[in-house]
Amino acid sequence: MTKADVLLGLQWGDEGKGKVIDVLTPNYDVITRFQGGPNAGHTLEFNGEKYVLRSIPSGIFQGDKINVISNGVVLDPALFKAEAEALAKSGHDLTKKLYISKKAHLIMPTHRMLDAANEAAKGDAKVGTTGKGIGPTYTDKVGRYGLRVGDILLDFDKKYAAAKARHEFMLKSMNFEYDIEEAEKQWLEGIEYLKNFTLIDSEHYLNDVLAQDKTILCEGAQGTMLDVDFGSYPFVTSSNTICAGACTGMGIAPNKIGDVYGIFKAYCTRVGSGPFPSELFDEVGDTLCEKGHEFGSVTGRKRRCGWIDLVALKYSVMINGVTKLIMMKSDVLDDFDTIKACVGYRINGEEIDYFPYEINDSIEPIYKELPGWKTDMTKMKSEDEFPEAFNAYLDFLEDELEVPIKIVSVGPDREQTIVRYI
Ligand code: GDP
Ligand code: IMO
Ligand code: MG
Repeated sequence: MTKADVLLGLQWGDEGKGKVIDVLTPNYDVITRFQGGPNAGHTLEFNGEKYVLRSIPSGIFQGDKINVISNGVVLDPALFKAEAEALAKSGHDLTKKLYISKKAHLIMPTHRMLDAANEAAKGDAKVGTTGKGIGPTYTDKVGRYGLRVGDILLDFDKKYAAAKARHEFMLKSMNFEYDIEEAEKQWLEGIEYLKNFTLIDSEHYLNDVLAQDKTILCEGAQGTMLDVDFGSYPFVTSSNTICAGACTGMGIAPNKIGDVYGIFKAYCTRVGSGPFPSELFDEVGDTLCEKGHEFGSVTGRKRRCGWIDLVALKYSVMINGVTKLIMMKSDVLDDFDTIKACVGYRINGEEIDYFPYEINDSIEPIYKELPGWKTDMTKMKSEDEFPEAFNAYLDFLEDELEVPIKIVSVGPDREQTIVRYI
């Protein structure tokens, strides 16, 4: 019996999960998404092409590996159709290598409208969601009102009409004006399109894969700081983005989880509202944004940028039981004279080095300053080429986080990935 390895984000998302899943896929038989939905935007670059995946796992480009959308995911059939058809047009037919769990929940057009209505009602306190209906769909799942992929094969029209009527009642009571016609048409086409795929009870399939000594890589979406239980609540997403979410999101028992790859940027970003203690509002923040092309891959929104936050990262390592770290976008720091890392928080004059109940704007970050490496690392192929100051930065992070950094990424391309000897 093998175990499933999990790769997940340790910050506020967009760490580079898609890129590394693609790089690691040749080592695995099956790749699976276990939570989130089209709020995700996972970017892959290879052979001069760039792809952004939202619901489809990032293992889809490496041969005939099986990719699974598991039960913990929320799926919008209209967006899924658009994504899969775009891939088919560029020569990637997914129908034979993508399986979808019958237990994954369906995002309805009215969920997207409820998302917009909820945000409008919150005013200044809005979460800054991606507007994809994620919160309302998970709310319906937990509230036991949801529609699942398997329902499209069973008395669907009746179930859809009941769910839609309930949503319309809510939208009306919020005085939210909407026009559902076009969105609904595309959505129903998406429902038909889903029938071209193999719809399965993925928990049986995935456990059988492990029982046959084959290997699974689980692809997280969002990041630990956006986890509904442990993130910067209420400025979070509505699913468990952490390692435990892989167990519930796939039906894999905790003792069947193997390595947990924790992925982080060499600095930090966040998109949407909510606290971000090490956020920079100066020209250093602007440089990170420009050099790192920090604009949302789904919404195009400018990402907020700041220094790496080791208080938050240590918390993420603990919550997820991370066994191997992956550091991304180190090339973005290539030109800096000095680099800062947040090693503590000052709250009302008191210094702490642990992640508190609430992080808010009154937190002052405490920084340690390290020398920059001032070297273009983007063409490096091996850790033997790493400059001394870069190795010192890696040593410092490993000492703080107490987990080895196994992979370093020095550019967006598949090839710009360095696996370390450790
Ligand atoms: P994900 O959501 O975690 O998959 O990450 P995103 O795709 O949303 O954002 C990561 C962005 O950084 C994408 O535009 C990637 O192409 C890019 N990227 C990934 N790794 C690197 C890297 O090492 N260096 C640079 N400069 N860009 C990277
Ligand atoms: P990937 O997988 C970055 C953020 C939104 C918002 C909050 C809630 O590409 O890393 P939601 O639409 O989920 O209800 O929004 O979460 N958010 C992300 N930020 N990367 C993501 O995904 C995100 N998915 C959601 O900006 O602040
Ligand atoms: Mg992303």
